[in-house]
Amino acid sequence: MAPLDDEPELRAGLARAGQSHLLRFWPQLEPAERAALAETLRALGAEELGAHCRRAAQTYAREQQEEEEAGGHPEGLAGRLQPVPPEFFGSVARSEPATLERWEEEGLRQISQGKVAVLLLAGGQGTRLGVPYPKGMYDVGLPSRKTLYQLQAERIRRVAQLAGEKFGTSCKVPWYIMTSEFTLGPTEAFFRDHDYFHLAKSDVVLFEQRMLPAVTFDGKAILDGKGKLAMAPDGNGGLYRALADNKILEDMERRGIRYIHVYCVDNILVKMADPVFVGFCVSKGADCGAKVVEKAYPTEPVGVVCSVDGVYQVVEYSEIPSEVAEMRNPDGRLTYSAGNICNHFFTLDFLQTIAEKFEPQLKSHLAIKKVPFVDEVGNRVNPLKPNGIKLEKFVFDVFQFSKNFVAFEVLREEEFSPLKNADPASKDTPTTARRSLLSQHYRWAQKAGARFMDSQGHPIPEIQSLSGDEEPPAVCEISPLVSYFGEDLEQYLNAKEVQSPLLLDESQAEALRQA
Ligand code: UTP
Repeated sequence: MAPLDDEPELRAGLARAGQSHLLRFWPQLEPAERAALAETLRALGAEELGAHCRRAAQTYAREQQEEEEAGGHPEGLAGRLQPVPPEFFGSVARSEPATLERWEEEGLRQISQGKVAVLLLAGGQGTRLGVPYPKGMYDVGLPSRKTLYQLQAERIRRVAQLAGEKFGTSCKVPWYIMTSEFTLGPTEAFFRDHDYFHLAKSDVVLFEQRMLPAVTFDGKAILDGKGKLAMAPDGNGGLYRALADNKILEDMERRGIRYIHVYCVDNILVKMADPVFVGFCVSKGADCGAKVVEKAYPTEPVGVVCSVDGVYQVVEYSEIPSEVAEMRNPDGRLTYSAGNICNHFFTLDFLQTIAEKFEPQLKSHLAIKKVPFVDEVGNRVNPLKPNGIKLEKFVFDVFQFSKNFVAFEVLREEEFSPLKNADPASKDTPTTARRSLLSQHYRWAQKAGARFMDSQGHPIPEIQSLSGDEEPPAVCEISPLVSYFGEDLEQYLNAKEVQSPLLLDESQAEALRQA
């Protein structure tokens, strides 16, 4: 592939690729803008750019046609689906406490030996939330005003401490953070400004995923400015390319990591390096695992982890025929109940095999979006309806390559509350995320024996079995540095009268312990 670094060559390459329009405003560009555009095009490569645009338009045309033929009736998959068999399906709700303890101990053992890392997918643009900074920097309005990044950093510190104390080691859980062109700079600065939330800087490894051009329905790369292509990150499945591009797997190997817990930035309840999940996966000898929550109702819009023709994958709810979605087991539970929450376990060996061998086989999915563009005369337009295609890979598309796949069902109200939309949307907002966390902490405090009082010293009536959707009667936020998942709270709270709002950080906990 010839480099596109001088104009005639640039023009010729783009003409062959059917993308000459990208130089439409070339005569009007300043030298620095020309250099930047030429550099972008050179990095993409004219031939690859042409192939990408053709693939996007063809995928779009094919999917349109398939949709017309199917007429919105997803019959194709009926008879080909199978749920994950019970022997490979763990469940928090349906396991004996002793079994859960065994898995937890196994997970903590692996962590204590420094074999577990966490990997955060934080390259998304967060368009639905609509803030001009990375989602991890969002503060949902907790009493502590902690951001998602800070909550996660503190959970990492605490789980490493728990594992170290249990097994008498000094251990670390390295934190790998996949960012994109949109999120890398601000994320880096945020961590620096907050002194890496007291984690060692060397244990926080930021890396960047690739960007791909957005394309019109007829296969033309879109100009975002006169000298700038509209680009978007290549989906959370861009992880596998990014791991190879940035030599992250080598870094993991050097550190002796064997197991990686991958998760999304926006789940405020995420249990980082979850010892129970890790322990379950390790005990089962899994190379790949998915944490799931039970689907609430048959038509809930959530992807389902199951197999199609014997191959594991996540099937979109819209692809599951309604009679299949409604099937139930003898115990009344939905047969296809394993709701995907983008929370995965991988062995390092598995990731190495994907990066080296299977990554090119991962499917590119179509996302139809409103992509701002410059029109023929150079005016920037914010389209009112979708005008562009972005191609994305999905992190879960590697399930098909697993030799020993497992699923692990956890309680939604304890482990899953994503931040996707801005208030006042009806779900997955800052309000619902804050409420989920505060209800969880209220339940933990209640279980530990706390008695909440109002500011006048009157007892606040308790609510038993508070769900994550309800506003708790008392406000209680527990620092992850005090308790990772509700453990060890009796020493501070049992039979103690505490005033709402309670912010149980380390110093408050110590004061209560001595009270
Ligand atoms: P979502 O699909 O919810 O996308 O990402 P998003 O970017 O956060 O939000 P919208 O759709 O633009 O509103 C799920 C997870 O995958 C990560 C996100 O950062 C989030 O943790 N992700 C998504 C990436 O890391 N890279 C991507 O290219 C896309």
